[in-house]
Amino acid sequence: MIRYRRLAYLALNVSDLDRSVAFYRDVMGLQHVGASDTPLRFLRCSDKHHDIVLYRGDPGLKRIAFELESAPELPKLQAALQAAGVAQRPIPDEDVAAMRTGPGVRMIEPNTQATIDFFVAGPAGSDPYPPFVPTVAKIERLGHLVLKTARYRETVDFFHQVLNFQISDQIGEAVTFMRCFPNPLHHSFGLADGKGQSTLHHVNFMVTDIDDIGVAMWRFKRLDVPIVFGPGRHPTSNSIFLYALDPDGITVEYSFGMEQFPESGPRPPRLLPAVPKSVDSWESPIDTRKNGVGTIELPQ
Ligand SMILES: [Fe+2]
Repeated sequence: MIRYRRLAYLALNVSDLDRSVAFYRDVMGLQHVGASDTPLRFLRCSDKHHDIVLYRGDPGLKRIAFELESAPELPKLQAALQAAGVAQRPIPDEDVAAMRTGPGVRMIEPNTQATIDFFVAGPAGSDPYPPFVPTVAKIERLGHLVLKTARYRETVDFFHQVLNFQISDQIGEAVTFMRCFPNPLHHSFGLADGKGQSTLHHVNFMVTDIDDIGVAMWRFKRLDVPIVFGPGRHPTSNSIFLYALDPDGITVEYSFGMEQFPESGPRPPRLLPAVPKSVDSWESPIDTRKNGVGTIELPQ
């Protein structure tokens, strides 16, 4: 049973680094850290070094990183990947150094071709980063990401059976919400049927206050940031949500509140019908631009 700590960070490709740093800092409320003239830019919304790292590229997903619970989980993960016939290699030294992580492995998820790192935290005491100070929104954490996958059932099975992610809820044969066991959050990761395509679906930031959702709605309107869904409420996780587009059209989400699961004796996953009310109990309209941009960078 491989054990994880959390969704650690996302590496995103964007077309204009300065423009996207400004958006994630000034509109979404992350803190920009490090130099402003480098080929990668770090933003944070936690006490870690970073939660998002931006690269210049075809807008979408460059890499996902999950933190394992502790060092003994790494050989368990390596054995599980090997047994499943999935290639793995150590995270390159330059990325370990730049991302301030401990050691880990990198794999290409066989169905979506997404690059995923699994790492162990660096040595204790190596995290001397100052507290994250919220600005325009009281962001609690990088919450989750959802991928669209061309091979829906196979991808769900891979994450569940090989990686030991646990299923919290499903909507028809269209969406699966998963937690990176034993992290209690209803979902840190999700998969959506991509109907033949694999792309990044959206990136979520959790906020601590319902007011952050309402204030963001008016901030987005004032700044001409397209709102593409919400405000509404997901009946699966019970989160109140608001979705908007970043400067490249990547879908980003704020959410408030989320069901949490105990490690032992969790409720069984539910299967909700594939109807709009299963996605939003408030039945707000969905803009056709939602989830439209999000190329998954193919392995080099
Ligand atoms: Fe979400």
